[in-house]
This record gives sequence, structure tokens and C-alpha cells, in this order.
Amino acid sequence: MDARVTFHDHAPETLSLYDAVVQGLSRPRKLIPPKFFYDDRGSELFDAICEQPEYYLPAAEHALLNGCAAELADLVGRGRVVIEPGAGSLKKIRLLLEALQPGAYVPMDISHTFLKSAARQLAAAFPWLPIHAACVDFTHSMPLPQQLPEGPRLAFFPGSSLGNFHPPEARDFLALIRNTVGEDGMLLIGVDTKKPAALLDAAYNDAAGLTAQFNLNLLHRIQRELDAECEPQAFRHHAFYNPQAGRVEMHLVSERAQALRVNGHRFDFQAAESVHTECSYKYAPEEFIALAAEAGFVPVKHWLAEERLFGVYLLALG
Ligand code: AVI
Repeated sequence: MDARVTFHDHAPETLSLYDAVVQGLSRPRKLIPPKFFYDDRGSELFDAICEQPEYYLPAAEHALLNGCAAELADLVGRGRVVIEPGAGSLKKIRLLLEALQPGAYVPMDISHTFLKSAARQLAAAFPWLPIHAACVDFTHSMPLPQQLPEGPRLAFFPGSSLGNFHPPEARDFLALIRNTVGEDGMLLIGVDTKKPAALLDAAYNDAAGLTAQFNLNLLHRIQRELDAECEPQAFRHHAFYNPQAGRVEMHLVSERAQALRVNGHRFDFQAAESVHTECSYKYAPEEFIALAAEAGFVPVKHWLAEERLFGVYLLALG
């Protein structure tokens, strides 16, 4: 491995797909947590969703980060230790590296193989950057490698991934980030905004049908990996904005009465009954700033895309 890359495996203990299916389908309102979308096929589909014109989030965030990089460097200063939970393919950080000149970069992800190869590719493109990749379930803890340089920290959490937590969990997660970055730490985060339902409905029902495939892939995964008796073609994708809850919901709706069987368990579905697979909360800028304040953050500056389509926020500790 490249001398500038170290790898730390914290062997995250995660709820297995089997446990999640048995627990989630036993509930009166069936659910499966969204983290199970992301097997190799699901990650590929998510990357393809990010290219769809209706799914405006990545392009809006990209433009905001590009536009504010120089200003950010002034506000944040160079040489920080940048920590990115859920860093995935390590693509977004590339936008900021030249401007921020971090002292070190700590990408965290649950997927071991994915993180290792992405860290190597990043090291090849930015040979001056010390990279300490950590395989960890960052939703529970963010253990930092020992050999990090001294100096203030900046957490980076783009993509509106915060929206996939329910608000109380989102607040707890922000508090975990606050504890990880410490007193002189900062957080740079991308959060999707509330907007007319038609735009949100379109974003989660793209014309190419990729979001539908992404959602239905969960059932294919269950069939493949758990050897379940299940008919994915007898379910349909359903995604809609729920304005009372301020979130987009994704469901898999059973087209008819049927049973899903896995390892001796039987789960009955009535016609039109659904499994809730994802919530994607949307925050008006004032709402997000209030949530972040509950976790101890104060706003430094934020940037909004045209028509408040998306927000990028720089926060410090209060
Ligand atoms: C990863 N996350 C922020 C996406 C979202 O918009 O909630 C996942 C996604 N679900 C459907 N399309 C994209």
C-alpha cells in the first residue's frame, strides 16, 4: 500500500440482513432499514440515480461546493484534519482538497473493499495527502487513528445523507460528530431542502426507473442472499413526499396477497400492504440550523442553490 495511506479495520458489528428482515417484517408496519440497499448492485444503481436529471441533489451540491471552495478555505483555514463519515467512493472530497490542503484525510466507511480501493485511487491522484482510511460503522462511533497530526478538525458529511436518519437520530449523529471534531472543530454538511412535492416526487421516481430498481433490488438481495421464497416482480416501487412529516418515503408495495418465506419464517402480505424502506427528511435552512443547534453547533455560513434547491452549511461549536 502507498506510504501515504494507512488502513484501520474496526470490524464493525452490523445488524445482518437476515436479522433486519426477520425483525422488520415481524412489525405491524413492515420496514427494512435503508442501509441494506447498498450491496454492489445497489451501490451501482445509486451512482446511476445520481446521474439522473430528476435527482437534482448531487449536481446542486457539486455546484455549491465548487463555488464556495475558495471562501471555505478562508473560513476554515488550511491544514485541518478532514474526517468524512460514509465517504463511499471518495469523489466529493476531491472538489475541496486543493483549496483546503488538509493535514490529513480520514475517510470512514462500513464497506472494507470499497474503501480500500477508493483510498488507493485517491492517494494516486493526491500524492501529498496523508490518508488514514477507517472501516467503521460511523453511525455508532467514530474511532480516530492514533497517528493523526495535531490541529483542528473538519467533518465533511455531504449528499444529504443526514436526511436518512429520523430527526432525533440525526441530532444524536450530529452530537457524535461534535464530540469527534472537538472544541475547535467544524462541520461542512450538505442537506436537502423542503420544496414543492412535484419536484421531490419526480426526484424519487425518475423516468428511467432507476430508483424503482434500486428499491426493488432489496427484494432481489433477500432472495439471493437469504435464499428466501419471494417474488420481487409481485411488488412495486412507491415513493412520495409526505408534507406532514417533511420527508420523502419509499415503500415496496405488494401487488397482491402473498407470503415471503425465509428460513422457516413466513411473512404474510395483504394486497397493497407495503414495506417501508427509506425516509429522506428535507429541512428548510432555519429548521436544519435549529437541529444543529440542539447538537451544539452554531452556523458560520451557509450557501443555498437557486430557489433554495439544496443547502451547504459550515458549522462550528457553540
Ligand atoms: C443516500 N441518500 C441521501 C439518498 C436520498 O436521497 O435519500 C438515497 C436515495 N434514495 C432514493 N434515491 C436516492
